[in-house]
Amino acid sequence: MGPAMSAPTSPKTFHVKSFGCQMNVYDGERMAELLAAQGMTAVDSNGSADLVVLNTCHIRERATEKVYSDIGRIAKNWDGPVGTAPMIAVAGCVAQAEGDEIMARAPSVQVVVGPQSYHHLPEMVARAAAGGRATETDMPAEAKFAALPKRRKSAPSAFLTVQEGCDKFCTYCVVPYTRGAEISRPFSDLVEEAKLLVAGGAREITLLGQNVNAWASQDDKGREIGLEALIRALAAEPDLQRIRYTTSHPNDMTEGLIEAHGEIDKLMPFLHLPVQAGSDRVLKAMNRSHSAESYLRVLERVRAVRPDIALSGDFIVGFPGETDAEFEETLQLVDAVGYAQAFSFKYSARPGTPAATMDDHVAPEIMDQRLQRLQAALQRDSLAFNLASVGKRCSVLVERKGKLPGQWLGKSPWLQSVHFTADLAIGDLVDVELIEAGPNSLSGHLL
Ligand code: 5AD
Ligand code: SF4
Repeated sequence: MGPAMSAPTSPKTFHVKSFGCQMNVYDGERMAELLAAQGMTAVDSNGSADLVVLNTCHIRERATEKVYSDIGRIAKNWDGPVGTAPMIAVAGCVAQAEGDEIMARAPSVQVVVGPQSYHHLPEMVARAAAGGRATETDMPAEAKFAALPKRRKSAPSAFLTVQEGCDKFCTYCVVPYTRGAEISRPFSDLVEEAKLLVAGGAREITLLGQNVNAWASQDDKGREIGLEALIRALAAEPDLQRIRYTTSHPNDMTEGLIEAHGEIDKLMPFLHLPVQAGSDRVLKAMNRSHSAESYLRVLERVRAVRPDIALSGDFIVGFPGETDAEFEETLQLVDAVGYAQAFSFKYSARPGTPAATMDDHVAPEIMDQRLQRLQAALQRDSLAFNLASVGKRCSVLVERKGKLPGQWLGKSPWLQSVHFTADLAIGDLVDVELIEAGPNSLSGHLL
């Protein structure tokens, strides 16, 4: 006899839940396409899904804990026949880093699949349905991209992974270990995938990579090209209106890419360029290989060609050994830049990274205070940026319905959320006047 609680022999419905970064959102969509190609149906909630895929993030502590509590909750929410249980697959970076531990600690998990192996998901699910448990955490990513199905449908704003992995080895970061070495997908594959996304409804494409501006390939004549050439090729697609890219490293902001911001209208005036800290001593300990000064110089060059560019960044407070005076340098850098938006985090020691074993870890209450002060400064600046936009006329890509009847939500060229009331459809690109601003969104009216 089998165990009292068994998984459905062959899942017919599935639910993919993605945590963390935009690349995980992309991966989640690709896994959904793979499962749908097997004849399975996507469902919105995990209570009725025969198979739940948790597409996890390992960048900071709490994300991992959330995975374990989610695993517990899935079994509880299951509304299938008594005596059965849904099949649980753990994917993403926690699967890569802690696959064996998950298998040992969570007997209800039947599949563990790393971010570079998920093209094998259908076959692993079949193995699990036959009564086994399956783990795959192979690297690198090339085989995965070759094995993924063609894309058919797309939301108006689509993600396209062009580059994966990281060779920078910032001392706090797990990405080089969970996503592996830097690889760039070939130019021709990307142009083809972009065309399919556009044919499927995409009006905006965000090119994704952990170090997206390190993307490198050859064009159809065999010449070495960088990200700006890919952006230029995509800009030639008539039905594609907007192009964005994220996340970039300051050292890979080449002259060609900076110039592209001044030359390509479809390239939106927005740049996410993480700096992490304002102190050169801390930046060195982080192995960032840039200084506060060299970072500011890059921004100056971008602003010279595109004066209205909206700047965004990532920050870590409380890196091991960070003093009060060094933290003040982060605040000074924030004042100097004037970010339109930003993400800020308390340092979280990640097992296996060099910073985890450094001396002088900063006390939690000091981290809390620093984060509060930093976030207050960043909020002040995003509000100022949004207020300065009031009165501007701009395009908005309608992405979804708002909370109120007749209300729509979309993004401005500067990636601000804009809501307005009009008779429209998702995917419309409309001209709007911005009339009111808060720290996180603006309201507009249709022109
Ligand atoms: N602790 C806190 N924040 C981190 N990030 C990456 N690793 C850590 C860590 N160990 C942040 C960085 C990065 C963003 C994606 O997450 O700011 O740019
Ligand atoms: Fe992590 Fe640094 Fe690579 Fe970004 S550049 S993914 S922070 S190691």
